[in-house]
Amino acid sequence: MRTTSFLLAGLCLLAVACDKPASANKGDPSTTTAPVVSSTAAPPSATPPPTSAPAPEAKTVDLKITANASTMAFDPTTLTVPAGSMVHLVIENKGPGALPHNWALVMPGTEAKVAADGLAKGETENYISASSDLLANTPLAKAGTNTEVTFKAPPPGKYPYICTFPGHYMMMKGVLTVTP
Ligand code: CU
Repeated sequence: MRTTSFLLAGLCLLAVACDKPASANKGDPSTTTAPVVSSTAAPPSATPPPTSAPAPEAKTVDLKITANASTMAFDPTTLTVPAGSMVHLVIENKGPGALPHNWALVMPGTEAKVAADGLAKGETENYISASSDLLANTPLAKAGTNTEVTFKAPPPGKYPYICTFPGHYMMMKGVLTVTP
């Protein structure tokens, strides 16, 4: 019924001489007025800007992880994010102490390889070597400083994270769980 009246109203506009047959529908005035208004050549100021609809974006998850410049440990040692999210992770390296730390998310079972590859790169490269085993990483955070990284969560699963500073990865580790 509403579709019919809508079509009739549209045809009415096309045939200018038409004498408002849609007004015979006494039920819902909004169904008859809506097509008329939208078809009228309205002044530009009356129409909302077409770019007002924001594009859909992945939700961002903010994570904070703490390390200590005098020990080799992450706090916490477990993190959880939903699949598809954008992850913003900050690592805070608290003093006192002098140990730099970083945070590297790796494919399961590749901790030793990623750490060894990073070691070969040296401190100027943050002990990080890009590879398909390395999913995300922060730069080194010197004692008393923060560093951060933003990345898209990998597919659902459990992923180790480590510090690749020389000698740290075997103790300084945790697990990021990506939920479906
Ligand atoms: Cu470390």
